[in-house]
Amino acid sequence: MATLDLDTSVVENAYARWAPIYDAVCGPVMLKGRRAAAAAARAIGGKILEVGVGTGLSFDDYDTTTDITGIDLSAPMLDKARAKMASGRYPWVQSVQQMDAHAMSFDDATFDCVVAQFVITLVENPEQVLSECHRVVKPGGRIILVNHLYSETGLAAAVERWAAVKTRAMGLRPEFPFARLQAWSQSNSESILVERRKLAPFGIYTLVTFERAAALAA
Ligand SMILES: C[S@@+](CC[C@H](N)C(=O)[O-])C[C@H]1O[C@@H](n2cnc3c(N)ncnc32)[C@H](O)[C@@H]1O
Repeated sequence: MATLDLDTSVVENAYARWAPIYDAVCGPVMLKGRRAAAAAARAIGGKILEVGVGTGLSFDDYDTTTDITGIDLSAPMLDKARAKMASGRYPWVQSVQQMDAHAMSFDDATFDCVVAQFVITLVENPEQVLSECHRVVKPGGRIILVNHLYSETGLAAAVERWAAVKTRAMGLRPEFPFARLQAWSQSNSESILVERRKLAPFGIYTLVTFERAAALAA
């Protein structure tokens, strides 16, 4: 099915409202998905970019084997992330910056891994954001996404289609299908889909990993 568009101003307004309550509401609900994505990123290690880092809930999931940079569109969400950094508990977090994932200011091939937790379904142009993630990750590096993806069949799919209209102003897109991520990867000759895994306990969240093909030796 077609997904309804979200524009960037809707997302910014929505997250200005979410920021004060985000950790309390979304912390526990999304914990397993967030942890699974961070674990996959830690397995790669090195320089990790968190796209849509939000309030920095994932900071706890990394350690000194990693070097974390975060970006987010929302200043109120980043204020919360900076407060966490100021506690001194997260020396592996290098910086968080206000930046639109559609047009990042990083050089090509800067990061070993790019992680986007609960972000790709709510950006205005997911394909453009994926292409930016692909650009800034090194050849051989990975893009790791975790999200709820559209159920596609049955009662859950019907509920998600109904919820799509109701939740648009909250910056949510519950009817976003895996097929759209796959189509982006198939259209990019340097992108390899390496994993699509539903996460326990109920398979509500899916972890999707793309690899940027390593450059061929001359
Ligand atoms: C659901 S929250 C997820 C936050 C965090 N990743 C987590 O797991 O708690 C989505 C975040 O993506 C950010 N975001 C949405 N569109 C963005 C964009 N175009 N560029 C950068 N960040 C964006 C929002 O501001 C928000 O902080």
